[in-house]
Amino acid sequence: MAGRVFVQGDRAATPIVWQYGVKSRGIEVAKELIALRIAKDGPVVVSEREVALVDLPEQLCGFRIAHVSDMHFSKWDRVCACAQRLLLSLDYDAACLTGDFGDFRHLWERSLGLAERFLAPIVDRKPVYATLGNHDSRKIALEMKLGVRWLHNEGVVVGEGDAAFYLAGVDQNVAGADDVAAAVSGNKASLPTVLMAHYPSTVYRLPDDRIDLVLSGHTHGGQIRLPFIGCVWPNDAIPREMARGLHRVGRTMLHVSPGLGTSLPVRVRFLCPAEITVLKLVRKAVSTAEGDREHQPETVSAGVPV
Ligand SMILES: [Fe+2]
Repeated sequence: MAGRVFVQGDRAATPIVWQYGVKSRGIEVAKELIALRIAKDGPVVVSEREVALVDLPEQLCGFRIAHVSDMHFSKWDRVCACAQRLLLSLDYDAACLTGDFGDFRHLWERSLGLAERFLAPIVDRKPVYATLGNHDSRKIALEMKLGVRWLHNEGVVVGEGDAAFYLAGVDQNVAGADDVAAAVSGNKASLPTVLMAHYPSTVYRLPDDRIDLVLSGHTHGGQIRLPFIGCVWPNDAIPREMARGLHRVGRTMLHVSPGLGTSLPVRVRFLCPAEITVLKLVRKAVSTAEGDREHQPETVSAGVPV
């Protein structure tokens, strides 16, 4: 399977096609250095990945989710402008934003203004779903004047008939605010389930195995990654190698977005560019370990022994 990655700059995008499945860490580092060099004219990488879900209905195959996270809106900069342009031009069916709209919680009004500037043209184009992260004041969701569908420990049906899935989200702006069981409880028709949860470690405390895909952020991909080492500090109770990308934990797939912004103590990204990920849902008819390996790109690893 191919993972298609390109960088969108102020000028024309530069396409690169990388074949996943190569296990050499050296090659991974080289790819990141190339991305960093090309990104000098445009700070946001777009990554397209296929997510193979067990027994996904045929009618849902090809559904495309633009996963964005950790905007940390504190000023309107090149990342904001570039990411907005990308979300206005990329091919996807729905955008899922997994928290950290804010930066400092007491400056929520500033972050809200920038978030509305960022999202205003996007909500006119595609459905936008959102959850809160640990940097967010709940007021950002309550006061936003746009048609963003916030998911506060609840879910909605996306699509119709056999082409529908259940999209749930949890509040993770303060400790103990999230309730995954409540968020998925509305899935009465046992639809395929996607859960938006800011913390990727949420995947280890799911109520059962009915959740097919978890969308998370928070780690910023490690924000600073070192050659041959990768992420130094995932900032969550997950293995370092799970700080970004697509992973499988039991039956559930987990996508960890590297996000767009940065946060303290060091507002720097190194070998870890800001990213918008377009996830294309595809069907996996078998659930054997052999079948799993067959569908995993290089960035996939088992989160826990299974
Ligand atoms: Fe963040």
